[in-house]
Amino acid sequence: MKILGIESSCDETAAAVVEDGRIVKSNIIASSLEEHKLYGGVVPEIASRRHAEAISGVVKEALEQAGCTMDDIDAIAVTFAPGLIGALLVGVNFAKGLAASAGKPLVPVHHLRSHIASNYLTSDLEPPFLCLIVSGGHSHIVAVNSYTDYEIIGKTRDDAAGEALDKAGRTMGLPYPGGISIDKISKTGNSDAYAFPHPRVDGAPFDFSFSGLKTSVINIVHNAKQKQEEINIPDLAASFQKNVVHCLISNLETVSEKFGYNKIVLAGGVSANSLLRSESERLCRKHGWKLYLPELKYCGDNAAMVAAQGYYEYLAGITADSSLNAYATMPIDIVNF
Ligand code: KG4
Ligand code: ZN
Repeated sequence: MKILGIESSCDETAAAVVEDGRIVKSNIIASSLEEHKLYGGVVPEIASRRHAEAISGVVKEALEQAGCTMDDIDAIAVTFAPGLIGALLVGVNFAKGLAASAGKPLVPVHHLRSHIASNYLTSDLEPPFLCLIVSGGHSHIVAVNSYTDYEIIGKTRDDAAGEALDKAGRTMGLPYPGGISIDKISKTGNSDAYAFPHPRVDGAPFDFSFSGLKTSVINIVHNAKQKQEEINIPDLAASFQKNVVHCLISNLETVSEKFGYNKIVLAGGVSANSLLRSESERLCRKHGWKLYLPELKYCGDNAAMVAAQGYYEYLAGITADSSLNAYATMPIDIVNF
């Protein structure tokens, strides 16, 4: 079964053709990231306009590269939530039009579910497993009971890990997105140079809180400026990154031990982080758990992961009609459309 996936939740306009949820036939991405860099973050209106301009060509290219026409496609899967509403609407409306004109089923896909599915593209991973999802908008520890059954065990109470890295990067004067910049510059820094608190959420040992860490960075930079002291940015970046990764890994370990998981999965843009990848490898080696990491090219937003998850949603009988809407927020466990 061939699924055409369409993704437009943030600043990537993407389309892909995937066979049986696992075999990538094509994976096309057009990004407006360079333009957003000028503003230090994604500008929703610009993202929506670029999606509208790019989507038709991106879908055409995905079909061509897969050697397909719409006749060969069995269903169209589209990201419908969560994300930037204007950006999502471009993909959803394009997919609705295409599904109606080609007479194909339309499968609504939750963005975080698709991030998890990026692991299906390059491994034999099957549920159940425990997943740490870390992106620009979300930080969750989720029990994936089946391809379409999820349970949130831990989540952030404030900023997502990616958001905290991006904001800290901006405070340090690094290029957007801060997560990528911090990962790069940390390689030359001393991660013990600056001390950060390890924030814990009272009464919720599985939850995260990153806003305090972000404030600590702002205070360090602000105080240094006032005292006209030099800041070693690689050291500050490395220390901050180590702390964020430590928070993620320590909760992941607590949850996995408590619930007895031996299959650990990472997903989302921040799963590209080199320290998070090496620390999760260390954690899983220590406990004898099997670790699944998405390939770097599937960590960020792409449509191959949407088509992969779309396949399993379709098998579970989840399809939408032309009334499908987009939603800026939607929990991963209770999907309504
Ligand atoms: O999943 P994603 O591409 O988009 C969302 O769904 O949010 O995640 C984007 C986030 C950004 O915050 C970005 O800074 C972060 O992923 N990111 C990284 C790295 N690559 C992307 N964070 C840390 N290290 C990286 N190598
Ligand atoms: Zn994403």
